[in-house]
Amino acid sequence: MVKDFIDTNDFTREELLDMIELASSMKAMIKKGGRYPQILKNKTLGMIFQQVSTRTRISFETAMTDLGGHAQFYGPGTIQLGGHESIEDSARVMGRLVMGSLLDIMMARVDRHKDVVGLAEGSAVPVINGMSEFNHPTQELGDLLTMMENLPEGKKIEDCKLAFIGDATQVCVSLMFICSKMGMDFVQFGPKGHQITDGGLQVDTDIDLLAIGEENCKVSGGTITISDDIECIKDADFIYTDVWYGLYDDEEEGASYMDVFYPKYQVTMDMMNYAGPNSKFMHCLPASRGEEVVDEVMDSPERSLCWDEAENRKHSIRALLAALGKRTPLNDEGVEYSAKAELHAALEALEQL
Ligand code: CP
Repeated sequence: MVKDFIDTNDFTREELLDMIELASSMKAMIKKGGRYPQILKNKTLGMIFQQVSTRTRISFETAMTDLGGHAQFYGPGTIQLGGHESIEDSARVMGRLVMGSLLDIMMARVDRHKDVVGLAEGSAVPVINGMSEFNHPTQELGDLLTMMENLPEGKKIEDCKLAFIGDATQVCVSLMFICSKMGMDFVQFGPKGHQITDGGLQVDTDIDLLAIGEENCKVSGGTITISDDIECIKDADFIYTDVWYGLYDDEEEGASYMDVFYPKYQVTMDMMNYAGPNSKFMHCLPASRGEEVVDEVMDSPERSLCWDEAENRKHSIRALLAALGKRTPLNDEGVEYSAKAELHAALEALEQL
């Protein structure tokens, strides 16, 4: 397994499924009243946030506490990162702090993907991408866990179809990555100009996003469809959407997005039923109720998975921290180290107590 978690495309299908299995085991154990293995005792996670966050910040911070470690929060504008100090210098300084045992894992939510890549290249410790304009890989893990928990009867993950409705946000792109990696059928139902093939929201348009997904499909047997014809969502097991204004937080920008997407791309119960009578609703959150989704769908106990999905951010991030955190200079078990084996042994030991 590679040192950093910047992009799920750096991992094999099996490695990603191992993390999900680990996340499920810990989740099940704690729901039964068990205790978390303190495998990250005396370890620190440095959390860099260039943008606001609820789910990602809380998940990382509490997951670190669960495993006996500590998280330091560096909010927007509170540290030098690619502003007054170059990204390379910041990474170098953080590397020296790491050698002084102050930081054992780093995560960063960044405006520019190249900054989290630069941090990873410049530091000895594992670096986790907490979302960039390019992708949102920890969201992918939580979403995969949620889908695995809600597989339609008789289906495996590779038999499922996910339809993303709306704008080619970084979450949309990330879903294409994880679905194609798993061998699923991925669909983006969105207007021209806002499709993955138009470059999505990414800043670096040199990257051919679709080509990455298609390479995954060659290995996994998955498919990718991008269309503005609603027919493409037929038989989808999972209907997923994200806000229409993407990374833009300007009110006027949001209003113009309404003109492009409303009402064709709003997820309503009619749309859910058009996909299929048992289709499930997913959303990375936060949602703009009344825009990309209506209350009836979001609050439906039978159809909506979005609250489980939010909880699963923490369960999956905990497994990721366990897997990457055991590879730091302070406790390096070598390339053969298996977080899965160690965690399962720890879980079994706790169950004997
Ligand atoms: N889904 C997600 O990343 O939520 P936050 O922005 O609240 O972290």
